[in-house]
Amino acid sequence: MQTVNRLAALREAVDSLRARGTVALVPTMGALHEGHLTLVREARARADTVVASIFVNPAQFGPKEDFAAYPRTLTEDARMLAAEGCDLLWAPSVEEVYPQGFATTVSVGGVSKRLEGAARPGHFDGVATVVAKLFNQVRPDLALFGEKDWQQLAVIRRMARDLDLTQPGPGAIVGVPTVREADGLAMSSRNRYLSAEDRARAAVLPLALGKAVAAIEAGAAVAAVLQATEAALLAGGFTGVDYVALADAESLDPLTALGGRPARLLAAARIGGTRLIDNRAVERG
Ligand code: PAF
Repeated sequence: MQTVNRLAALREAVDSLRARGTVALVPTMGALHEGHLTLVREARARADTVVASIFVNPAQFGPKEDFAAYPRTLTEDARMLAAEGCDLLWAPSVEEVYPQGFATTVSVGGVSKRLEGAARPGHFDGVATVVAKLFNQVRPDLALFGEKDWQQLAVIRRMARDLDLTQPGPGAIVGVPTVREADGLAMSSRNRYLSAEDRARAAVLPLALGKAVAAIEAGAAVAAVLQATEAALLAGGFTGVDYVALADAESLDPLTALGGRPARLLAAARIGGTRLIDNRAVERG
């Protein structure tokens, strides 16, 4: 696996790899775990060349968030990517991505303003901007993202449709199901912040969401289920709940009942100093 840090070198490397056929991009912020490796395996199965990026994007962190503390494990990450057959690692510096005078933001309306967008103002502007740049830098035929960040996936697809992107087009933005620990906790780079005690308690989140999905699918009143889920999280050791919401799976518009369109149950909650998110599909009962 080749690693490049400069845009000119990336372009040269991708151009020569493109001769083999299709190119898949797996964008990451590093601190890789089994969830990321699943994206790489899926990319490997779908494309001739796999490019992964590792860039801890300052633009998507709020002023009080964990940008400085975010785990940076580049050597180990590169080893794991190489072992999965990744062909090229794009690991630029902040200056390479945001050079002096950088002044452009991609801001997706609607879908990016709710839930995570409301709890973390500016977060999705940072995500959309860097993902648009990554798409232009690599020009992949397809790009893969974890469904754990469900709203992020919806924002990126919206951006691709709205900006008429072709590399990748909206249909080539692939969501890959969340990879979970044995107790159901969604894998996340931020799980490593959890103390052993909080890590054990954190399984309440997937458990509570699973119960809520079952209740809504069985016809229980949505508002009551959401309230009970929030109470279960707080009783289970979470110190704060940013939201527990039922939403349209594509627009993230809030839902008070299941309708004809796909729905998603989404939650964000804090345990110790760590903020965890998770989501589940909700089917019509
Ligand atoms: O999901 C992530 O790791 C990041 O938000 C992404 C998509 C790599 C953009 O920085």
